Amino acid sequence: MLEQDENPQGSNPTQNPELTQLIEKHLSRRNLLGGALAATAAQFLFGRGAAAQELGTNGPRSGRSRRPRMGFTEVPASSADDFIVPPGYVAQVMVPWGTPLWSNATPFAEDASNSAADQELQVGFNHDGMHYFPLWRGPLGNRRGLLVINHEYTDANQIYSAAVGRTITNDAAGREKVAKALAGHGVSVIEIQRDANGNWSHVIDSPYNRRITGTTPMAFSGPVSPSHPMLQSAITPSPRGTLNNCAHGFTPWGTYLACEENWNGYFGTADSSWTATALEARYGVSRGGFGYNWHVAEPRFDVAVNRNELNHFGWVVEIDPFDPRSTPVKRTRLGRIKHEGATVTEARGRVVVYSGDDENGDYLYKFVGDRPWRMWRARGESPLDHGILYVAKFEENGTGTWIALEHGTGPFTVANGWADQADVLIRTRQAADAVGATRLHRPEWVSVDEHTKDVYVTLTNGSGNGAAVNSNRDPNPYGHIVRFREADHDNSSLSFEWDIFVIAGDPAYDPSVPASQPAFGSPDGVWVDPDGLVWIQTDISNSSQNLASRGYDRIANNQMLVADPFTGEVRRFLTGPRGCEITGVITTPDQRTMFVNVQHPGESTTFWNNQFGSPSPANPTAVSTWPYGNGRRPRPATVAIRKLDGGKIGS
Ligand code: FEO
Ligand code: CA
Ligand code: CA
Ligand code: CA
Repeated sequence: MLEQDENPQGSNPTQNPELTQLIEKHLSRRNLLGGALAATAAQFLFGRGAAAQELGTNGPRSGRSRRPRMGFTEVPASSADDFIVPPGYVAQVMVPWGTPLWSNATPFAEDASNSAADQELQVGFNHDGMHYFPLWRGPLGNRRGLLVINHEYTDANQIYSAAVGRTITNDAAGREKVAKALAGHGVSVIEIQRDANGNWSHVIDSPYNRRITGTTPMAFSGPVSPSHPMLQSAITPSPRGTLNNCAHGFTPWGTYLACEENWNGYFGTADSSWTATALEARYGVSRGGFGYNWHVAEPRFDVAVNRNELNHFGWVVEIDPFDPRSTPVKRTRLGRIKHEGATVTEARGRVVVYSGDDENGDYLYKFVGDRPWRMWRARGESPLDHGILYVAKFEENGTGTWIALEHGTGPFTVANGWADQADVLIRTRQAADAVGATRLHRPEWVSVDEHTKDVYVTLTNGSGNGAAVNSNRDPNPYGHIVRFREADHDNSSLSFEWDIFVIAGDPAYDPSVPASQPAFGSPDGVWVDPDGLVWIQTDISNSSQNLASRGYDRIANNQMLVADPFTGEVRRFLTGPRGCEITGVITTPDQRTMFVNVQHPGESTTFWNNQFGSPSPANPTAVSTWPYGNGRRPRPATVAIRKLDGGKIGS
């Protein structure tokens, strides 16, 4: 089950325009195609960089005191099984998969023999989106806080012991395996603290520690409720669990947003008479799913038995990390898609939430609150329950608009078959199809520069993983980052301008990549830090890494880079171990510690074969023993990065 977030074909049946086609036309319109493509990329960068610089000094939110600075020495591309940071930095592994969070929890078993019940009290698998909530205001908040971590998915090659194997059977052993996988999913809330030497540790038995899993009771709010006919389920009349929590968000009122991305892959059926409805097909639901085979042991995940369970997923889940007894809430007003993340910013006192639907050919959304969020909070209501969901439509002249997915507007009438707003939200993808939204190459993270209010969106790659490297726009095998600016720098505006911020790839093979840019592929995580530096994390398929003829040899392991929007420079900051992706990024408020996640080190069927079967040399670069080496089991983990001189990360 490699790279479960990749579905090369996608499931979008429309002929809505695709952004890469618009980019080609956009370039032609600017008469830039006559020169080298590298020059066009540079002009995009520098052109927009100059604009950003202007904004920094004259714009409406000119709070930034100085230009950002990159002071670190670039690290080279790496295929080593190691986590490598620049000279002068130190990286400390924390809370790997299986770490006990309570003193009564069972220690992690190196042979993966921990039970489902053990896993319930341990850190989950495949760390992904993450936020740090300081426990105090002021300097103490830099030393003590809550780390909240998504656990995107589990890998059957890695979470089960040789004694039980990885096959899901229809018996008690199969149900135990499904239960362990469900317990490895979800979210961890972990109190952490930093000692006088700068070392971080987790606090065992902290009253804040919490595991939210695939079985935790869930509440719903907004127009869609569990009593809706399309959500009623005999097996789960009260919805349970959140799955495939990829990226995340956080709100100005101190809550965490976990997003449900590739939830469709957990469902399947052995019933050959089952066929997907148009709605189910649009969300990629199939008899086989992604090969988890949970439906073999658990009818909850059998779409022929418990069909409406599907509609319990695809939402943004709000979690209060400061109240471990609170029930997570699925905020249905934000739409039902494969939410990569949910990035919150403020506009005129209202919340704006950006979210990419990460599938090839799917769309970018934003929710705009209808009143100041403080007003809703004062009334005891959620600002996320009141507002309108929009989808992005890009134009080839570098502008774009947001189109409302609101019942009673546009095509969303009863006469057209849209019963009400709940219907529009349950069928968000089809609603967006109906208004001609622009298809994108897998929109992943979104980040907002809180000074300029510019918005950055990673489009991780198109369907072109098998394509020549010198055609980097369509089919776009290495991805790019789009930047857009909402009208009047107001993120609640309904029109914007857009451009390409960074084109990924290897400049040695691809003339559209600036010659000075380090080789990297498939940007996924993106975060604009308080100084305006743009941190970029990559998730290029490890199954493709050996393909030297396509330039993957120089890209090698996944990595994290920093782009300076003022100069256009991109510099590689760190490289991860073999087979992993680098994801999740946040600093303490003083920017002196950065937390980054290493997801799925060593992910490969080779891992299973080498451990328990016939060792295969097919994909040796995916073999990992990170973080502890010496032949030990690879484990997803968080890494705390500090500068030895105590300075800001990146400076
Ligand atoms: Fe889970 Fe779209 O990365
Ligand atoms: Ca991934
Ligand atoms: Ca991702
Ligand atoms: Ca990804």
